[in-house]
Amino acid sequence: MIVLGIESSCDETAAAVVADGREVRSSVVASQTAVHHPYGGVVPELASRAHIEAIGPVVEQAMADAGLSPEAIDGVAVTRGPGLVGCLLVGFCFAKAWAYGRGLPWVGVDHLEGHLHAVMLAADAPPFPFVALLASGGHTGVYYMEGPRRYTLLGQTRDDAAGEAYDKVAKMLGLGYPGGAVIDDLAGRGDAERIVFTRPYLDKTQFDFSFSGLKTAVHRYIQTHPDTYRTDQADIAAGFQAAVVDVLVHKLLHAAAVHNCPRVVLAGGVAANGGLRARLTAEAAAAGIAAHIPPLAFCGDNAAMIAAAGYHHLQAGCRGALTDDVYSRNTR
Ligand code: KG4
Ligand code: ZN
Repeated sequence: MIVLGIESSCDETAAAVVADGREVRSSVVASQTAVHHPYGGVVPELASRAHIEAIGPVVEQAMADAGLSPEAIDGVAVTRGPGLVGCLLVGFCFAKAWAYGRGLPWVGVDHLEGHLHAVMLAADAPPFPFVALLASGGHTGVYYMEGPRRYTLLGQTRDDAAGEAYDKVAKMLGLGYPGGAVIDDLAGRGDAERIVFTRPYLDKTQFDFSFSGLKTAVHRYIQTHPDTYRTDQADIAAGFQAAVVDVLVHKLLHAAAVHNCPRVVLAGGVAANGGLRARLTAEAAAAGIAAHIPPLAFCGDNAAMIAAAGYHHLQAGCRGALTDDVYSRNTR
């Protein structure tokens, strides 16, 4: 089954063609970073307008890159939520019309479920069950994945998402938006032991997260070191990243141990983090657990992951209705 995936929940307009939920035939992502960079964050109205301009060409490009005509598509999967409503509506309405006009089945897909399926696009896609850590700009949680369409949330952040903490720390240091990759890069050049931040484990046996206290600790450090924080940027980034990575890796591996599960998976934009990928790979190997990490191209927002998740819903006979609407918040 060949699925056209469409994603427009935040600041990336994306389309992809994926066969059988695994084989990526094309994946196009038009980023709006340049549009939002001057504002230090995503401006919803500008994002919606940029999606409207990009959606048609992006879908056409994905079809052209796959070398397919629309007749070769068996179904359409599109992000329904959570995200910015104006942004979601652009992709959602476009997908409805694209499918309806061609008499094709289509289905709305949860954005988080999409991220959790990104690893299925990797050459070493894991078998079920597995425990997954989803860390993005809007969400951070641990999931037990029993099979396609069968997963349980074990715990999630009580305040900021991990990616959000990265973005806010980058902003405090004057490094612009989005901040994750910049902090990651800086951290690689810093000393993680010179400026140590308390690890926000909460209860070490549970799977909830909290990153707002860590963000505040970085803010306090900057305020109390006005003369040196600029020259110490790399050490601050390294100290902050070490605290985030310690907590994420501990909770993920602990969840795998509690559920007696031999496989763990990373997902979401923060899964692109070099420090996190390296630490998880090393610690999982030491614990005898297989770590599966999606290729970089499928960690951040993309439509191939939406097609991969939507494939299972379409196969199960789920169909969207023309009266379906998008949703802004996570309802699971
Ligand atoms: O999954 P994603 O593209 O969008 C959401 O669904 O939120 O995640 C975006 C988030 C941003 O907060 C960004 O700063 C973070 O992922 N991010 C990173 C890295 N690359 C992107 N965080 C840490 N290290 C990175 N290398
Ligand atoms: Zn995302």
